[in-house]
Amino acid sequence: MSLKVPEGLETERTLIRPFKGDDLDGFYTFMSDGEATKYLLFTADQKTFEGTKELLDKTIANYDNEEQIYALAVERKADGNFIGSIGFGPDWKGSGYQMFWMILPEYWKKGYGIEVTKKLLEYAFSILGLELMTAYSHPDNIASEKLALKLGMVDNGIVDIEFFDEPHVQFVIRKDDLNQLL
Ligand SMILES: CC(C)(COP(=O)(O)OP(=O)(O)OC[C@H]1O[C@@H](n2cnc3c(N)ncnc32)[C@H](O)[C@@H]1OP(=O)(O)O)[C@@H](O)C(=O)NCCC(=O)NCCS
Repeated sequence: MSLKVPEGLETERTLIRPFKGDDLDGFYTFMSDGEATKYLLFTADQKTFEGTKELLDKTIANYDNEEQIYALAVERKADGNFIGSIGFGPDWKGSGYQMFWMILPEYWKKGYGIEVTKKLLEYAFSILGLELMTAYSHPDNIASEKLALKLGMVDNGIVDIEFFDEPHVQFVIRKDDLNQLL
């Protein structure tokens, strides 16, 4: 992917920025939490401390590459704490991009998810010039579904994804639909 990762995006309560080495402990808090990763496609190895470190190192190293891993850290402005990660990558089912979101459990249901995903979508559409964004969510992942719908994404129904044992719900939003929400 040759889209430029932003130096930093700011919302009322957060900074959305490239990952750095110091994020390891916070990132591992998420990766080692069985409930938080329940519906995500991480391997058992990636959920270990070493595996998480490898994933983080790879993400950081890839910012300098032409084909970047578009994963960003979310930092809380008030205390500098790492509270999650958002980003996007090639769509599993199409030629566009799909977004992902994760917030550390202790910060759930405080509006951080919607605050940061809205900002990234705004950036993707208005600065990067993308026209469409998808997201996939396990049918039982209520929090993720709520977030997608609150973001203005439309439920496109259940689709099969080859890496997952179970079908997932596909959510879609077009540039013009986000503009109406802002
Ligand atoms: C999905 C996730 C990012 C939501 O983060 P969050 O910061 O709690 O989200 P918000 O506080 O902005 O909430 C957004 C909406 O979802 C609702 N919501 C959040 N968690 C919920 C839950 N467990 N059950 C029901 N509704 C929930 C909120 O109430 C809010 O809706 P409302 O304003 O109408 O009340 C978080 O639950 C998470 O990290 N989950 C694990 C990772 C994951 O599964 N990612 C999805 C695949 S990439």
